Amino acid sequence: MTSCDKTLFTQGANEPGKDDVSESVRNWVSEMSAYFGRPLTFFIKTFGCQQNDHDSEIAAGILSLLGFHEGISAEKSDVVLFNTCSVRANADDRFYGHVGNMKPLKKEGYPIIGVFGCMMEQDIHVNTIKTTFPYVDFILGAGAMTHIPQALESVINARMTEKRNAGKPLDLTSISLPSDSITSGELPVKRQNRQRALITIMTGCNNFCTYCIVPYTRGREKSRIAADVVREVKQAVSEGARDVMLLGQNVNSYGVEERKRGEDPALYPTFSELLSEIALIDRLFVLRYMTSHPCDLSDELINVIGRIPVIEPHIHLPLQSGSDHILKKMNRRYDAAHYLSLVKKLRETRPDITISTDLIVGFPGETEDDFRATLRVMEEARFDAAFTFIYSPREGTPAARWFDSVSSNREEDNNTNHEATIRDRFERLTALQNRLSYDSNVKLEGREVAVLVDGSSKRSPDIFSGRTRDHRLVNFTAPDRMSLSGNNLLQAGDIVLVRIDHAKIYSLEGTVTSILERSLQTRCP
Ligand code: SAH
Ligand code: SF4
Ligand code: F3S
Repeated sequence: MTSCDKTLFTQGANEPGKDDVSESVRNWVSEMSAYFGRPLTFFIKTFGCQQNDHDSEIAAGILSLLGFHEGISAEKSDVVLFNTCSVRANADDRFYGHVGNMKPLKKEGYPIIGVFGCMMEQDIHVNTIKTTFPYVDFILGAGAMTHIPQALESVINARMTEKRNAGKPLDLTSISLPSDSITSGELPVKRQNRQRALITIMTGCNNFCTYCIVPYTRGREKSRIAADVVREVKQAVSEGARDVMLLGQNVNSYGVEERKRGEDPALYPTFSELLSEIALIDRLFVLRYMTSHPCDLSDELINVIGRIPVIEPHIHLPLQSGSDHILKKMNRRYDAAHYLSLVKKLRETRPDITISTDLIVGFPGETEDDFRATLRVMEEARFDAAFTFIYSPREGTPAARWFDSVSSNREEDNNTNHEATIRDRFERLTALQNRLSYDSNVKLEGREVAVLVDGSSKRSPDIFSGRTRDHRLVNFTAPDRMSLSGNNLLQAGDIVLVRIDHAKIYSLEGTVTSILERSLQTRCP
């Protein structure tokens, strides 16, 4: 691997890959490579959130330790893994489309197909795979990447002994508990993006919002020991990470369960303490974290955000709904007034902070008045960005039982044309957010902002893209000497000053005025 490779591979200290199972898979990989006269390759298709993105980076790290190389597509790879998401119906559907497309590709047992992630924590999906997609070779639970060597070994052994594809997926979901690998020690990671590192600090969720499947697929909250997190961040930074994102479904309650159980607070400090410690690490451009729950966002944390400049001047704080009635039914445990008081404190404490949010339209029982309350809170909070979703019933969650898709999903509203009403609300919500997002971006026109470079566009190599400290997307051009023809070529990981020429709803356009810092990486020819 050269220093100009897109990906970077870090081997953890007590990683899987040094046991007998891994050794036997590694031997098989090298025999097959010799037989085919080329390296064996893997491809991972990931659905869902950053937690899943990072789990896939760990899966890629494990497969690399086993001797596989990263392939360019599912069609051209020997092992294909699907890391699934179940948060909304469209995530499920997209996965089934992809796995269905694998059928004609499967010839003489290849590629070996494995499925893991949140959908595989639900019997309904596990059974669908077994009955409808029998050419899948193995199934693992969410976050169960350390079991990949074992799954591969079982598939290989079954083939050797039965001289054929076993004919049905090997179900290892019962041995792979939700997210059991992630919090235990250090794992190998093959990062997709060397300048931006995703670091898991905790897994699972205890909140049980009534619409959400995550607590059922990811289990209860479990935090990693702070020293392991800090070590991983330092390692990532030494390898060129300038943007570090600490991940958890509810990062504000990092370590809470462990401290309640009587664990040493030095091992599991508060999230504010962890954030403050990581912020001391040299060479960080920005320290990010996601997701915060409004109910657990403490004054201590708001003060830390206000005091430490390297902590991002941005927070993702999902509102979900602006109606107290709906928030109660969602089991969110805050009301609109509390949410707005947090927004006020955040803006007072860190005046440059941007706030993004998640919003759900069409939750069972949502009336026009409830919906208008959401619009009002949005206006008052002046969200800089929002992810907007139409409510999707998830089997097994309380809200799914309140949902009636045929007549109306609103208890107090007589409008029977339910789908059209929800679509109309969704469009009104998006229109309002587009205006707020543009208002937020247009303030930057004419100003200079620091941007962490992600690379240049494939279609026009002289147009670069990157993100500001508050995570706004910036597309920009650079003077000749910094563009492709010059020898001072900009590359991922550089930090530049960009003058913003033009604001759009989802991005900014600008021109580089100077280079602030070069990336640690060797410059590529
Ligand atoms: N732990 C994070 C992220 C959860 S999933 C949090 O609490 O914010 C990301 C977003 O998906 C949620 O914030 C919510 O807005 C949306 N979401 C979750 N379940 C949904 C459902 N059943 N239908 C529509 N949107 C949903
Ligand atoms: Fe889901 Fe709520 Fe947990 Fe977020 S906090 S993962 S929305 S249950
Ligand atoms: Fe999806 Fe699981 Fe993440 S359901 S949003 S991949 S935690």
